[in-house]
Amino acid sequence: MRIVVALHEMQRLARRWRRQGVRVAFVPTMGALHTGHLSLVQEARRRVKSSGRVVVSVFVNPTQFAPHEDLAAYPRNLARDRALCRTSGVDVLFVPEDTAMYPQAPVPPSSTCVVEEALTRSMEGSARPTHFRGVTTVLAKLFNLVLPDLAIFGAKDWQQAAVVRRMVRDLNFPLQIVVAPTVRESDGLAMSSRNQRLAPDERPQATVLWRSIQWARGRVQAARRAVPAAQLQKGVAKLVASEPAARLDYVAFFDPDTLEPTRAVHRTSHMALAVFVGKVRLIDNAPLGVDAP
Ligand code: PAF
Repeated sequence: MRIVVALHEMQRLARRWRRQGVRVAFVPTMGALHTGHLSLVQEARRRVKSSGRVVVSVFVNPTQFAPHEDLAAYPRNLARDRALCRTSGVDVLFVPEDTAMYPQAPVPPSSTCVVEEALTRSMEGSARPTHFRGVTTVLAKLFNLVLPDLAIFGAKDWQQAAVVRRMVRDLNFPLQIVVAPTVRESDGLAMSSRNQRLAPDERPQATVLWRSIQWARGRVQAARRAVPAAQLQKGVAKLVASEPAARLDYVAFFDPDTLEPTRAVHRTSHMALAVFVGKVRLIDNAPLGVDAP
């Protein structure tokens, strides 16, 4: 496995692969890798086969964190990430430095940015107003450096995947966006680097996100008609409030493709929620009509 730090080296390598007709699958991450990330790496390899290249980036992107958010506390463990990538068959681990990615930082980190204006209005976009601008801008930069044929994202960040797919379509990036299923712990907690930050007494309480999804699923699947979103929102709020360390940020019911909120929730609807468990903000989502992860 090759480790690349310099942006020009990554781009030179990517251009060489492109000239040689080698397919490249890209898994962008912020590190602190877990089994969920490794499932994306596996999917990347499955798609490009042994003749292709799998690139993983580890970059804790400062521009997608607001000043009051957890950038400083975000888990980092490059030695472990390196070892995991090596044993997972990654070809290149790309670890750009903050100063190379954003030479003008801190203010402004870059004066050009990519903003998606429709799908970012709700949920994470309204709870974290500067978040998606940071995500789409850094991904545009990473796509230009890695020049992938496809990029793999986890369904856990459903809205992110939808936003990135739209950006790629609107700006004609020549790559395919692949969304791989959420990977869960045995008690249903969606795998996330932020889970490491939960205190021991908070960890069992964090399953309230998955329990909320299952509760709403049960209601929607048992109903003969659409269920009012307000009713489900109330039920989820009550469930979350029953955990002393948990605080509901939002719960949303929406169309999985357009992300349009729905007032009448049915089996084709999707649910997403964000919950603070102690100081850790966790998100989760799932379809309501099927028992998918
Ligand atoms: O999902 C993440 O880890 C990040 O938002 C991403 C896609 C790596 C961009 O920084």
